[in-house]
Amino acid sequence: MKQTIKDLLQVVVQDQEVTVKGWVKNRRGSKNVAFVSMNDGSCANNIQIVVDFNNIPEETFKNITVGACLCVKGQLKKSEGQGQDREVVAESVEIYGLANDKYPFQPKFHSLEFIRDNAHLRSRTATFSSIFRIRHALAYAVHKYYNDNGFYYVHTPIITASDAEGAGEMFRVTTLDLHKLPKTETGEIDFKEDFFGRATNLTVSGQLEGELMAMGLGKIYTFGPTFRAENSNTTRHLAEFWMIEPEMAFYELEDNMDLAEDFVKYVIRYALDNCKEDLDILEKRLIEEEKNKKQEEKSPMNLIDKLKFVVENNFERITYTEAIDILLNSNYHKKKKFQYEVKWGVDLQSEHERYLVEKHFEKPVILTNYPKDIKSFYMKQNDDGKTVRAMDVLFPGIGEIIGGSQREENYEKLETRMKQMGVPTDELWWYLDTRRFGTAPHSGFGLGFERLVQFVTGMGNIRDVIPFPRFPKGAEF
Ligand code: 4AD
Ligand code: MG
Repeated sequence: MKQTIKDLLQVVVQDQEVTVKGWVKNRRGSKNVAFVSMNDGSCANNIQIVVDFNNIPEETFKNITVGACLCVKGQLKKSEGQGQDREVVAESVEIYGLANDKYPFQPKFHSLEFIRDNAHLRSRTATFSSIFRIRHALAYAVHKYYNDNGFYYVHTPIITASDAEGAGEMFRVTTLDLHKLPKTETGEIDFKEDFFGRATNLTVSGQLEGELMAMGLGKIYTFGPTFRAENSNTTRHLAEFWMIEPEMAFYELEDNMDLAEDFVKYVIRYALDNCKEDLDILEKRLIEEEKNKKQEEKSPMNLIDKLKFVVENNFERITYTEAIDILLNSNYHKKKKFQYEVKWGVDLQSEHERYLVEKHFEKPVILTNYPKDIKSFYMKQNDDGKTVRAMDVLFPGIGEIIGGSQREENYEKLETRMKQMGVPTDELWWYLDTRRFGTAPHSGFGLGFERLVQFVTGMGNIRDVIPFPRFPKGAEF
């Protein structure tokens, strides 16, 4: 295989002939020699190229600016200079592509907003190449974890006729002519004429199909794109995001919590063990960012310490009812610092979640047994008639990172709940069949992959941890 800059930064230096291909990150020169930093994305560090104008015509070098792409042949030598232990002394320089001063990422400070506006080129910046290498490592760790623990990876459909979460926030998929929609006798759009002979959407979750697969394969997981048409312009919502959804036969809520905690700790530990260089770069960036923050907004821990803390400590496990009591008794509530109302039965807002995690417990929290009316139809009902065996995992700086539950396996209870909540039992006959034939206790959850990447990279905005974010009024690249 061809050698990358990562390889060249690791090999034993013995004046060997090497070829370096990559993009110019920086250049500085004196009268007779110039130094060029190059990066090819294989790792965070750049390699230094020494251009001696006795070997390489100064004319050639003059046009080479930051952003240009080069192929350099030369000798790998020990470096006497500061900041690197090796360098490539160029013997020939081939220009693949020049850039010019319009190239947006010159070697100076750029705001994240500016970089986001140039998202088509941002994989070339140090910050974003680190983020995307970490994203890759986390995705790999997800597959490794489940494979090593006896789970099967299943692919669930992206186009679906069902609304798994029952929230109705879906993107329609259609081949109908929007100017000439076919109508039924009663004047409604006739989806029988559509491609699939029914109304279809992009999926909001692979869970329902995941449950079907778990009822034969035992332990499965999905890892795919999901779509939500909610108009949420927040730093934690995307219209297209990736979700990991394990589903396990014979798992009850406690087993589900144990798995969720073990799983997230594993993938974070994987990043700590395998992405040191990239985490260091992001930590340095955050330390700079913190300097501009007010004292009360400053984070109590640096990035890497925060990740270690999560891996090394047990998550707090409490019920929704206990959480409401904590919030009601908090100084925050007494001083009316919460914007949204706190009382039993309301959905927790991110300010409440973050209070519990960041102020009260100061560590991740798993909340269980939520009121049934704020959760989906498929969650297992508790005997109290009021709550369901739901679990949300809440993380510092993020809020909800995982949502899941034990599933209602009793046919009658599930069907009754679906009818109460207006979920069409006739369309979901196939889902109900799992409860008709050999039903079993089972559980699962969904981890929002971008929220995980946000936590591990310390990035404040979810749009910065997916290469090409999709959000309301945003689908540029
Ligand atoms: O809580 P949610 O909606 O749960 C489900 O979809 C279940 N079917 C999961 C299951 O039990 N198999 O979503 C799960 C997670 C959330 O905790 C959050 O991390 C992430 O998905 N998520 C989003 N991430 C980015 N943008 C959005 N709009 C998101 N909505 C949910
Ligand atoms: Mg949720």
